[in-house]
Amino acid sequence: MGIHIKTGSEIEGMRTAGRLAAEVLDIVREHVRPGVTTEELDRICHDHITRVQHAVPAPLNYHGFPKSICASVNHQVCHGIPGPRALKDGDIVNLDITVIKDGWHGDTSKMFFAGKPSVLARRVTQIAYECMCIGIEMVRPGVHLGDLGHAMQRHAESHGMSVVREYCGHGIGRVFHEEPQVLHYGSPGTGIVLEPGMTFTIEPMVNAGKRFVKLLPDGWTVITKDRSLSAQWEHTVLVTDGGFEVLTRTPGADL
Ligand code: MF3
Ligand code: CO
Ligand code: CO
Repeated sequence: MGIHIKTGSEIEGMRTAGRLAAEVLDIVREHVRPGVTTEELDRICHDHITRVQHAVPAPLNYHGFPKSICASVNHQVCHGIPGPRALKDGDIVNLDITVIKDGWHGDTSKMFFAGKPSVLARRVTQIAYECMCIGIEMVRPGVHLGDLGHAMQRHAESHGMSVVREYCGHGIGRVFHEEPQVLHYGSPGTGIVLEPGMTFTIEPMVNAGKRFVKLLPDGWTVITKDRSLSAQWEHTVLVTDGGFEVLTRTPGADL
């Protein structure tokens, strides 16, 4: 298969899908507060994607996933299934949105706070965000993916936190998850060399405790083995001649 290099109109398609995914995070923000259930958040996102954007929520039925977004609360690392659980004051939640528009995928996630988070919750959220930014800012032709992974791992570990290794970023385009795998840990000089036209996600999962994870019996929800808090941020990125373009940024977004 190899890595798909996107050109011209393909990049335009990716820009549109990326912008739509980012807009979903913008519209759902005001609904995240104590008392809201994650399935209410799923419904708000689903309706916006299908009725306003005339796009498709990629997670729905993806390998059997039952909902339109992933909602991962506190010690849930990723792939949380929206359900009747109401958020409590101090909960942190990652909402992960992937839309398909005209066949192209845009994939982005961020952390939200319900009410007032603890100091530790704020810290793990901040460090995960910084890891993602460190990775993104290193993107340019000629760089090895292992260079990014190493920098993200070093940042998290230098703050006494850890990076999850079982899940990674991924190439993205007409296919949700394609080559290359984008590890958020590793060694400089390893992995593929970036070229203009590559599109992939950077989505580090950072745990306040140890890096080990466990899959819940629902077959999807990933939690930290030590039940420590976990945070994740994700953007879809294009490699340009001079560096990078974030395809899932909207004005005023992020932390
Ligand atoms: N959006 C996730 C990612 O960043 C994948 C979710 S797949 C699902 O790659 F099936 F769990 F929705
Ligand atoms: Co992704
Ligand atoms: Co995602």
